[in-house]
Order: sequence, then C-alpha cells, then structure tokens
Amino acid sequence: MDSMRLLVLGGTRHVGRALVETALARGDEVTTLTRGVSGAPAAGAQARYGDRTDPKQLRAALDGGTWDAVIDTWSSAPRVVRDSATLLTGRAGHYGYVSSRSVYAWPIPAAADESAPVVDGDPDSDDDSDYAAAKRGGELAVLRDFGGPAVLARAGLILGPYEIVGRMPWWLRRIERGGDVLAPGPRDRPLQYIDCRDLAAWLLHAADEGISGTFNAVSRPGQATMESLLNACIAATGADARLVWTDPDVILAAGVAPWTELPVWMPPSGEGASLHDGDVTAIYAAGLSCRPVEETVTATWRWLQAEGDPPVREGRPGHGLDPERERQVLAGLK
Ligand SMILES: NC(=O)c1ccc[n+]([C@@H]2O[C@H](COP(=O)([O-])OP(=O)(O)OC[C@H]3O[C@@H](n4cnc5c(N)ncnc54)[C@H](OP(=O)(O)O)[C@@H]3O)[C@@H](O)[C@H]2O)c1
Repeated sequence: MDSMRLLVLGGTRHVGRALVETALARGDEVTTLTRGVSGAPAAGAQARYGDRTDPKQLRAALDGGTWDAVIDTWSSAPRVVRDSATLLTGRAGHYGYVSSRSVYAWPIPAAADESAPVVDGDPDSDDDSDYAAAKRGGELAVLRDFGGPAVLARAGLILGPYEIVGRMPWWLRRIERGGDVLAPGPRDRPLQYIDCRDLAAWLLHAADEGISGTFNAVSRPGQATMESLLNACIAATGADARLVWTDPDVILAAGVAPWTELPVWMPPSGEGASLHDGDVTAIYAAGLSCRPVEETVTATWRWLQAEGDPPVREGRPGHGLDPERERQVLAGLK
C-alpha cells in the first residue's frame, strides 16, 4: 500500500507519538483519538477528541470515519479495547494492538516464543488493577470482537524518544552528571528492547501487508549490551563519566533493585533474566528491523534537550538509583 488512512487510538505519548510521526513521514493520512489531556498530536494529523472509556463519546468522536487500519495503544481496562474493536469492525481494515510481554505467566520461560503460557484475561472486564491481566484482556477483545485481520504486538522494553517511564532518561541524566557511575555487569550482558520508532514502523508494515497474528515485538537479544548502551550515553551527553563495572552479586547484595533502580538492567541469572531473551523469530520473519542503539540513545538525548524531562507518572514507581545509595555501593567496592 502506498499510503494509508490510519487511525491511532492514542497518538500523543511515547509509542503513539512515534506512530503518528512515522506514519506522517511515510505520507499516510493520520487521524488520532485522545482526550486532549496530553496535548495535541503532531502537526498534520487530524485530531479527534473524546473519552473512549465512554461508549457514547467514542461513537461520537469516530462518527463517519473509515480507515485502512487502526492502531490501539490502550493499556487499561480491556472493555475499552472491546468497544473500539466492535465499533471499528467494517470501518477499519486492520487492527494493531500494542500489547506487552507482560501477558506471559511469570516467570517467563527462557527463550520463550509466542506459545508460552499467558495469564488469564477477560475482554469484558472494567478492571485495570492488574496490568498483565488487562493487557491479556485487551488481546482477547481484539481477537474476539474485531472482524478482520489483527496483530497483537507484544512489546518488551520500549525505549527511544518520548519515553515516559523514565528509564533511558534516568541513565542519560545520571551519566550527564559525570564521575564514577555504578555500571551493572556483566558489561557484555545482551539486552533486548525496541525503539518506539521501530515498533511504529513495524506496526505500519503489518497493516500494509495485512499481517495477522501474535508477535513478540522486541529486538533480538544482544541488539545492545549494557556496555554499548552506557557508552552510547557517554557519547551522546559528552559527559566526563567513568563506568565502574560491578558484579551483579555485589549489586544484589547491596539491595539495589534491577530494572527499577538500575533501569533496563537484569542480572543474567534469576527469574527476570528472560526479560532480555525472548524468541523473536516470528517478528523478524515478518519484517521487523531495529536501528543501532546509538541512534536510540542519541535521539532520546536530543528529545530531552529539546523538551525537558518527562513528568513523573502518578501512582507509578519512579526509576533510578538515589545518588547517596550509589555512592555507598561504589565506596564498598574499594
Ligand atoms: N513502556 C514500555 O516499556 C512498554 C512495554 C510493553 C508494552 N507497552 C505498551 O505500550 C503502550 C504504550 O503506548 P503509548 O506510549 O502510546 O501510550 P500511553 O502513554 O498509554 O498514552 C495513552 C494515549 O491514549 C490517550 N488516552 C488516554 N486515556 C484516554 C481516554 N480515556 N480516551 C481517549 N484517549 C485516551 C492519551 O492522550 P490523552 O491523555 O490526551 O487522552 C495518549 O495519547 C501501552 O499499551 C503499553 O501497555 C509499554
């Protein structure tokens, strides 16, 4: 397809914003649906406004529209995905749902592909208190209620510009401060993630090609290592920072939490190790392409410089290590 009429449910934050920008750059005609709380979509998109949790507002906001494809970024109550999938049947040619590898039952088996066991989800549920169940419910709603081809893109760690979780922003700001930086080893630890812009490009490609199915939507393990990621942060910021590579056992013994206090990082053994080793054979066979980590880090840094740090998300845990705790761990190494 040369260019398409695309509806993005969302479109003003991390993945959605990348989707809108990527689609506009391809020449697609883009419509967004948001409440307007998080600002307007990129110039060139046709903004529609309404609260999609209210079926009446959803119907009114989408009134009269037909699209070649819809991409849905919803991450709360599954019933909201159900209502959209039902309403858009016959009015959108393809449904892309931004799902999550969180739908897999924990702990995720090593090298899990899309057939790994998943948590229960209820497509009719109004409950969003359990993220994994809500995402699974959203998947089930798309599969049951959208009458047409659909992809479930089970994203893992999503990085790149506009990131609101605060993982790369924290690393970049930490390295910008310079000095000795607690660098969680091993330095060659393979990382698996996806740049929001590569996820966006693949979702658009899936819509172009009418691809259906469920896909782990992340890079191959080893797209980057802890070392290449942190070196890219030093290069992007130009900071005078020295990486102090530290054994995972030392970090764990100090009570530092992987993933949250040291974002992105998971030790190579233990329950969480599988967050960086999902099987991605299917999505690469279906056309995924991932840009080098340096491009992801540089673009994130440029965005931070241009727009400042993302606001802390209400009710969500912050990311990053307190400077005093970092100093104590480093002091213990001497
Ligand atoms: N971050 C990760 O590492 C990660 C990993 C795996 C999967 N994921 C998934 O990736 C997706 C992230 O997508 P994202 O970054 O584009 O989304 P997001 O941050 O969840 O943004 C939500 C979008 O929906 C709009 N919105 C919120 N409530 C609304 C309502 N009631 N009615 C209409 N619009 C509403 C928001 O605009 P307004 O506020 O203006 O309404 C915004 O544009 C989520 O589905 C998440 O589960 C994330």
